Amino acid sequence: MNAVTTTAGPGAEQEFALSAADFTRIRELIYQRAGISLHEGKQAMVYSRLSRRLRETGRTSFSQYLQWLEQARGADAEAEWQQFVNCLTTNLTAFFREPHHFEALQLDLRARAARPLRLWCNAASTGEEPYSLAMTAVETLGASAQVKLVCSDIDTKVLATAERGVYATDARGLSPERLKRHFLRGSGANAGFMRVKPELARMIEFRPFNLMSASWSALGEPFDLVFCRNVMIYFDNATQRKVLEGMHRALKPGGLMYVGHSENFTDARDLFRLRGKTIYERV
Ligand SMILES: C[S@@+](CC[C@H](N)C(=O)[O-])C[C@H]1O[C@@H](n2cnc3c(N)ncnc32)[C@H](O)[C@@H]1O
Repeated sequence: MNAVTTTAGPGAEQEFALSAADFTRIRELIYQRAGISLHEGKQAMVYSRLSRRLRETGRTSFSQYLQWLEQARGADAEAEWQQFVNCLTTNLTAFFREPHHFEALQLDLRARAARPLRLWCNAASTGEEPYSLAMTAVETLGASAQVKLVCSDIDTKVLATAERGVYATDARGLSPERLKRHFLRGSGANAGFMRVKPELARMIEFRPFNLMSASWSALGEPFDLVFCRNVMIYFDNATQRKVLEGMHRALKPGGLMYVGHSENFTDARDLFRLRGKTIYERV
């Protein structure tokens, strides 16, 4: 590795050169690929997230890395584009995050339980959210609940963690009762970890999905309920509108979309009406 040392900010010694033009290009590329709008102030974040890729691929500057990424073709290029996206997503999540949604979910599941239900948890990150949905379904409708969940994210690394279903036993948001009921505790080398029980895992199908995709129909039959939380905050208004149109198509009429605490779509009245606190009903 021939890393150059350069100063890329006021007083900051940096291993790799990240020019203003490189930063602008990175912002354009992640917007095109993932719809994510990175603010001007995110230069340090971009540096810390992507410098690992430069090190791992043996590039000596951001401009060299970007030039190579944009010119590369074939499977290696696709794999690196995925790494690029994985590095720039923000994956904060927790079990039963925004607990009021899970109280509402119990009622919504009961009201619709007469037929098999299809749920979609997108932008699901490391899986705490879809497993919280599955736990709620089992607790509300019983272990034989006719509920199937699709769990997706653009980031293949977090999706692999979700599919593994292994978490630290002190994970945030999970009560001791739920831990006991829905997880198997590790022992020996696995002490301090727990694995989701098979009855929860088998309810969930994991698949990568980019909300910028043009092929929403690949998701299959329309959903009864969709969780799309804390991802649209990264999108600009035009991108949010496109995603809302996709959500509208992906939901059954009368289906519900649960969104994050700081996300407000009351302007999209032609698509959704506010049904509860950050819960929208498809028009
Ligand atoms: C802050 S996390 C939210 C996790 C979870 N929904 C929650 O509320 O706890 C945002 C997630 O959105 C995903 N994401 C970002 N852009 C995306 C896109 N274009 N398509 C699908 N997922 C995306 C990220 O990979 C990340 O895992």
